[in-house]
Amino acid sequence: MTGIRYVTPLREGGSVPGLVEADDLGTYVVKFTGAAQGRKALVAEVIAGELARRLGLRVPDLVRFEFDPVIALGEPDQEVQDLLKASGGLNLGMDFLPGALGFDPLAFEVDSAEAGRVVWFDALIGNVDRSWRNPNMLIWHKDLWLIDHGASLIWHHNWKTAGPAADKPYDAADHALARFSPDPTAAAAELAPQVTESLLREITALVPDEWLLDEPGFAGPDEVRRAYEKVLLNRAASVHARISLAGKQKEKQAPPKWLRTWVEGKNAT
Ligand SMILES: Nc1ncnc2c1ncn2[C@@H]1O[C@H](COP(=O)(O)OP(=O)(O)OP(=O)(O)O)[C@@H](O)[C@H]1O
Ligand SMILES: [Mg+2]
Repeated sequence: MTGIRYVTPLREGGSVPGLVEADDLGTYVVKFTGAAQGRKALVAEVIAGELARRLGLRVPDLVRFEFDPVIALGEPDQEVQDLLKASGGLNLGMDFLPGALGFDPLAFEVDSAEAGRVVWFDALIGNVDRSWRNPNMLIWHKDLWLIDHGASLIWHHNWKTAGPAADKPYDAADHALARFSPDPTAAAAELAPQVTESLLREITALVPDEWLLDEPGFAGPDEVRRAYEKVLLNRAASVHARISLAGKQKEKQAPPKWLRTWVEGKNAT
Protein backbone atom coordinates (compact mmCIF):
# COMPACT_ATOMS: atom_id res chain seq x y z
CA MET A 1 0.00 0.00 0.00
CA THR A 2 1.27 3.48 -0.85
CA GLY A 3 -0.02 6.75 0.58
CA ILE A 4 -1.37 9.27 -1.93
CA ARG A 5 -2.91 11.91 0.36
CA TYR A 6 -2.21 12.85 3.94
CA VAL A 7 -5.63 13.75 5.31
CA THR A 8 -5.04 14.78 8.92
CA PRO A 9 -3.10 13.97 12.07
CA LEU A 10 -5.01 12.03 14.76
CA ARG A 11 -4.03 14.12 17.73
CA GLU A 12 -5.85 12.00 20.29
CA GLY A 13 -3.08 9.44 19.87
CA GLY A 14 0.16 10.11 21.76
CA SER A 15 2.19 8.98 18.74
CA VAL A 16 0.16 11.26 16.42
CA PRO A 17 -0.83 8.65 13.86
CA GLY A 18 -2.02 10.03 10.52
CA LEU A 19 -5.16 9.47 8.55
CA VAL A 20 -3.87 8.74 5.05
CA GLU A 21 -5.54 7.80 1.79
CA ALA A 22 -3.78 5.06 -0.15
CA ASP A 23 -3.47 4.03 -3.77
CA ASP A 24 -6.28 1.48 -3.29
CA LEU A 25 -8.44 4.52 -2.41
CA GLY A 26 -8.89 3.10 1.08
CA THR A 27 -8.24 5.25 4.15
CA TYR A 28 -5.75 4.05 6.75
CA VAL A 29 -4.59 5.06 10.17
CA VAL A 30 -0.82 5.14 9.74
CA LYS A 31 1.58 4.69 12.62
CA PHE A 32 4.94 6.18 11.79
CA THR A 33 8.42 4.78 12.33
CA GLY A 34 9.63 8.30 13.16
CA ALA A 35 7.36 8.61 16.22
CA ALA A 36 8.99 8.90 19.65
CA GLN A 37 7.70 5.40 20.51
CA GLY A 38 10.05 4.07 17.80
CA ARG A 39 9.86 1.12 15.48
CA LYS A 40 9.38 -1.36 18.35
CA ALA A 41 5.89 0.04 18.85
CA LEU A 42 5.17 -1.02 15.27
CA VAL A 43 6.62 -4.48 15.85
CA ALA A 44 4.32 -4.82 18.86
CA GLU A 45 1.34 -3.68 16.76
CA VAL A 46 2.03 -6.35 14.15
CA ILE A 47 2.72 -9.26 16.51
CA ALA A 48 -0.05 -8.49 19.01
CA GLY A 49 -2.57 -7.42 16.37
CA GLU A 50 -2.08 -10.46 14.16
CA LEU A 51 -2.10 -12.78 17.16
CA ALA A 52 -5.39 -11.26 18.36
CA ARG A 53 -6.90 -11.70 14.93
CA ARG A 54 -5.93 -15.37 14.78
CA LEU A 55 -7.46 -15.89 18.20
CA GLY A 56 -10.76 -14.59 16.86
CA LEU A 57 -10.63 -11.09 18.35
CA ARG A 58 -11.55 -8.16 16.11
CA VAL A 59 -8.60 -6.01 15.00
CA PRO A 60 -8.55 -3.67 11.98
CA ASP A 61 -6.57 -5.09 9.03
CA LEU A 62 -2.89 -4.24 9.20
CA VAL A 63 -0.90 -3.41 6.07
CA ARG A 64 2.62 -2.43 5.09
CA PHE A 65 2.32 1.22 4.22
CA GLU A 66 4.80 3.14 2.03
CA PHE A 67 4.81 6.79 2.94
CA ASP A 68 6.52 9.63 1.09
CA PRO A 69 6.55 12.82 3.22
CA VAL A 70 6.14 14.83 0.03
CA ILE A 71 2.38 14.07 0.08
CA ALA A 72 2.06 15.93 3.38
CA LEU A 73 3.77 19.20 2.52
CA GLY A 74 0.49 21.03 3.13
CA GLU A 75 0.37 19.95 6.78
CA PRO A 76 1.02 23.20 8.66
CA ASP A 77 2.05 21.89 12.10
CA GLN A 78 5.83 21.90 12.41
CA GLU A 79 5.97 19.03 14.90
CA VAL A 80 3.84 16.86 12.65
CA GLN A 81 6.04 17.83 9.68
CA ASP A 82 9.12 16.70 11.62
CA LEU A 83 7.47 13.38 12.44
CA LEU A 84 6.48 12.79 8.83
CA LYS A 85 9.89 13.78 7.47
CA ALA A 86 11.47 11.23 9.79
CA SER A 87 9.11 8.52 8.52
CA GLY A 88 9.78 8.19 4.79
CA GLY A 89 9.54 4.59 3.57
CA LEU A 90 7.86 1.65 5.25
CA ASN A 91 5.33 2.34 8.02
CA LEU A 92 2.34 0.50 9.45
CA GLY A 93 -1.18 1.09 8.18
CA MET A 94 -4.40 -0.07 9.77
CA ASP A 95 -7.76 -0.06 8.15
CA PHE A 96 -9.66 3.05 9.26
CA LEU A 97 -13.06 2.15 10.72
CA PRO A 98 -15.25 5.08 9.69
CA GLY A 99 -17.71 6.25 12.30
CA ALA A 100 -16.26 4.03 15.03
CA LEU A 101 -16.76 5.30 18.57
CA GLY A 102 -14.24 5.10 21.37
CA PHE A 103 -15.28 2.32 23.75
CA ASP A 104 -16.99 3.63 26.86
CA PRO A 105 -17.39 1.02 29.64
CA LEU A 106 -20.45 2.91 30.89
CA ALA A 107 -22.30 2.99 27.63
CA PHE A 108 -21.61 -0.43 26.14
CA GLU A 109 -22.08 -3.90 27.57
CA VAL A 110 -19.56 -6.63 26.80
CA ASP A 111 -20.43 -10.24 27.43
CA SER A 112 -18.29 -11.92 30.02
CA ALA A 113 -16.86 -14.54 27.64
CA GLU A 114 -15.57 -11.84 25.29
CA ALA A 115 -14.27 -9.78 28.23
CA GLY A 116 -12.42 -12.89 29.44
CA ARG A 117 -10.81 -13.45 26.06
CA VAL A 118 -9.61 -9.85 25.83
CA VAL A 119 -8.26 -9.80 29.40
CA TRP A 120 -6.44 -13.09 28.89
CA PHE A 121 -5.03 -11.86 25.58
CA ASP A 122 -3.82 -8.62 27.19
CA ALA A 123 -2.16 -10.64 29.95
CA LEU A 124 -0.45 -12.75 27.31
CA ILE A 125 1.04 -9.73 25.55
CA GLY A 126 1.64 -7.76 28.78
CA ASN A 127 -0.64 -4.94 27.65
CA VAL A 128 -1.17 -2.29 30.33
CA ASP A 129 -2.68 0.10 27.83
CA ARG A 130 -6.33 -0.96 27.94
CA SER A 131 -7.46 0.67 31.16
CA TRP A 132 -10.82 2.32 31.68
CA ARG A 133 -9.00 5.67 31.44
CA ASN A 134 -7.59 4.79 28.03
CA PRO A 135 -9.52 1.78 26.69
CA ASN A 136 -7.91 1.55 23.21
CA MET A 137 -11.00 -0.21 21.92
CA LEU A 138 -13.55 1.00 19.42
CA ILE A 139 -17.19 0.18 18.89
CA TRP A 140 -17.94 -0.28 15.22
CA HIS A 141 -21.14 -1.74 13.83
CA LYS A 142 -22.07 -2.65 17.42
CA ASP A 143 -18.97 -4.82 17.84
CA LEU A 144 -15.89 -4.38 19.97
CA TRP A 145 -12.63 -3.79 18.07
CA LEU A 146 -9.15 -3.78 19.60
CA ILE A 147 -6.63 -1.11 18.62
CA ASP A 148 -3.30 0.21 19.80
CA HIS A 149 -0.97 -2.58 20.87
CA GLY A 150 2.13 -0.41 20.53
CA ALA A 151 2.93 -0.46 24.25
CA SER A 152 2.62 -4.24 24.63
CA LEU A 153 5.45 -6.82 24.64
CA ILE A 154 7.31 -4.43 26.94
CA TRP A 155 10.10 -6.95 27.51
CA HIS A 156 11.43 -6.23 24.01
CA HIS A 157 12.78 -2.94 25.33
CA ASN A 158 15.20 -4.92 27.46
CA TRP A 159 15.64 -8.47 26.23
CA LYS A 160 17.52 -9.42 29.41
CA THR A 161 14.14 -9.29 31.17
CA ALA A 162 12.46 -11.52 28.58
CA GLY A 163 13.15 -14.82 30.40
CA PRO A 164 11.60 -13.73 33.71
CA ALA A 165 8.87 -11.90 31.74
CA ALA A 166 7.25 -15.21 30.98
CA ASP A 167 6.42 -15.59 34.69
CA LYS A 168 5.38 -12.00 35.34
CA PRO A 169 1.92 -11.54 36.83
CA TYR A 170 -0.67 -9.35 35.14
CA ASP A 171 -2.67 -6.83 37.09
CA ALA A 172 -6.06 -6.47 35.40
CA ALA A 173 -7.73 -4.44 38.16
CA ASP A 174 -7.74 -1.32 35.99
CA HIS A 175 -8.62 -3.10 32.76
CA ALA A 176 -11.45 -1.47 30.81
CA LEU A 177 -13.32 -4.79 30.75
CA ALA A 178 -12.75 -5.73 34.40
CA ARG A 179 -16.31 -4.88 35.34
CA PHE A 180 -17.84 -7.35 32.87
CA SER A 181 -16.97 -10.44 34.97
CA PRO A 182 -14.17 -11.79 32.78
CA ASP A 183 -13.08 -15.37 33.43
CA PRO A 184 -9.51 -15.50 32.11
CA THR A 185 -9.11 -19.16 33.10
CA ALA A 186 -12.03 -20.18 30.89
CA ALA A 187 -10.61 -18.01 28.11
CA ALA A 188 -7.19 -19.64 28.53
CA ALA A 189 -8.70 -23.11 28.19
CA GLU A 190 -10.09 -22.05 24.84
CA LEU A 191 -7.28 -19.85 23.51
CA ALA A 192 -3.97 -21.01 24.99
CA PRO A 193 -3.90 -24.30 23.00
CA GLN A 194 -4.17 -22.23 19.82
CA VAL A 195 -0.97 -20.31 20.60
CA THR A 196 1.41 -22.81 19.05
CA GLU A 197 4.98 -22.44 17.87
CA SER A 198 3.87 -22.67 14.24
CA LEU A 199 1.22 -19.99 14.70
CA LEU A 200 3.76 -17.69 16.32
CA ARG A 201 6.22 -18.32 13.49
CA GLU A 202 3.59 -17.36 10.96
CA ILE A 203 2.99 -14.13 12.87
CA THR A 204 6.58 -13.05 13.44
CA ALA A 205 7.26 -13.67 9.75
CA LEU A 206 4.91 -10.74 9.06
CA VAL A 207 7.24 -8.27 10.79
CA PRO A 208 9.45 -6.56 8.20
CA ASP A 209 13.16 -7.40 8.59
CA GLU A 210 14.07 -3.72 8.66
CA TRP A 211 12.23 -3.24 11.98
CA LEU A 212 14.23 -6.07 13.55
CA LEU A 213 17.72 -5.17 12.36
CA ASP A 214 20.61 -4.23 14.65
CA GLU A 215 19.03 -5.53 17.83
CA PRO A 216 21.89 -5.78 20.35
CA GLY A 217 22.67 -9.37 21.32
CA PHE A 218 21.02 -10.90 18.25
CA ALA A 219 22.64 -12.16 15.07
CA GLY A 220 19.79 -11.04 12.84
CA PRO A 221 16.02 -10.58 12.43
CA ASP A 222 15.18 -14.29 12.60
CA GLU A 223 16.88 -14.64 15.95
CA VAL A 224 14.80 -11.73 17.24
CA ARG A 225 11.65 -13.40 15.88
CA ARG A 226 12.49 -16.59 17.81
CA ALA A 227 12.84 -14.52 21.01
CA TYR A 228 9.35 -13.04 20.58
CA GLU A 229 7.92 -16.52 19.96
CA LYS A 230 9.58 -17.98 23.03
CA VAL A 231 8.19 -15.48 25.54
CA LEU A 232 4.68 -15.69 24.10
CA LEU A 233 4.72 -19.47 24.03
CA ASN A 234 5.87 -19.62 27.66
CA ARG A 235 3.38 -17.02 28.81
CA ALA A 236 0.48 -18.69 27.03
CA ALA A 237 1.00 -21.83 29.08
CA SER A 238 0.30 -20.34 32.48
CA VAL A 239 -0.35 -16.61 32.54
CA HIS A 240 -4.05 -17.14 33.38
CA ALA A 241 -3.00 -18.27 36.85
CA ARG A 242 -1.25 -14.95 37.48
CA ILE A 243 -3.97 -12.51 36.41
CA SER A 244 -5.32 -10.46 39.28
CA LEU A 245 -8.72 -8.84 39.05
CA ALA A 246 -8.62 -7.56 42.62
CA GLY A 247 -12.22 -7.24 43.80
CA LYS A 248 -11.59 -4.19 45.94
CA GLN A 249 -10.07 -2.20 43.09
CA LYS A 250 -12.69 -3.51 40.73
CA GLU A 251 -15.34 -1.90 42.89
CA LYS A 252 -13.28 1.29 43.08
CA GLN A 253 -13.04 1.57 39.32
CA ALA A 254 -16.72 0.91 38.76
CA PRO A 255 -18.64 4.10 38.13
CA PRO A 256 -20.71 5.41 41.04
CA LYS A 257 -24.19 3.97 41.28
CA TRP A 258 -25.98 7.24 40.45
CA LEU A 259 -24.01 7.47 37.19
CA ARG A 260 -24.72 3.86 36.24
CA THR A 261 -28.42 4.37 36.85
CA TRP A 262 -28.38 7.54 34.83
CA VAL A 263 -26.55 5.95 31.88
CA GLU A 264 -28.75 2.87 31.95
CA GLY A 265 -31.82 5.09 31.98
CA LYS A 266 -30.44 7.05 29.07
CA ASN A 267 -29.70 3.89 27.08
CA ALA A 268 -33.19 2.60 27.70
CA THR A 269 -34.79 5.63 26.05
N1 LIG B 1 -8.51 1.75 12.81
C1 LIG B 1 -9.04 2.87 13.33
N2 LIG B 1 -10.24 3.33 12.91
C2 LIG B 1 -10.78 4.47 13.41
N3 LIG B 1 -10.16 5.24 14.34
C3 LIG B 1 -8.96 4.84 14.80
C4 LIG B 1 -8.33 3.63 14.34
N4 LIG B 1 -7.15 3.49 14.95
C5 LIG B 1 -7.04 4.54 15.77
N5 LIG B 1 -8.12 5.34 15.70
C6 LIG B 1 -8.34 6.61 16.46
O1 LIG B 1 -7.09 7.22 16.67
C7 LIG B 1 -6.82 7.32 18.08
C8 LIG B 1 -5.35 7.08 18.31
O2 LIG B 1 -5.01 5.75 17.94
P1 LIG B 1 -4.05 4.89 18.84
O3 LIG B 1 -4.60 4.77 20.22
O4 LIG B 1 -3.79 3.62 18.12
O5 LIG B 1 -2.75 5.82 18.82
P2 LIG B 1 -1.53 5.97 19.82
O6 LIG B 1 -0.74 7.12 19.35
O7 LIG B 1 -0.85 4.68 19.96
O8 LIG B 1 -2.30 6.34 21.14
P3 LIG B 1 -1.89 6.39 22.68
O9 LIG B 1 -1.95 7.84 23.03
O10 LIG B 1 -3.00 5.62 23.33
O11 LIG B 1 -0.56 5.76 22.83
C9 LIG B 1 -7.74 6.29 18.72
O12 LIG B 1 -8.07 6.65 20.04
C10 LIG B 1 -8.95 6.34 17.82
O13 LIG B 1 -9.78 7.43 18.15
MG1 LIG C 1 -4.29 4.80 22.09
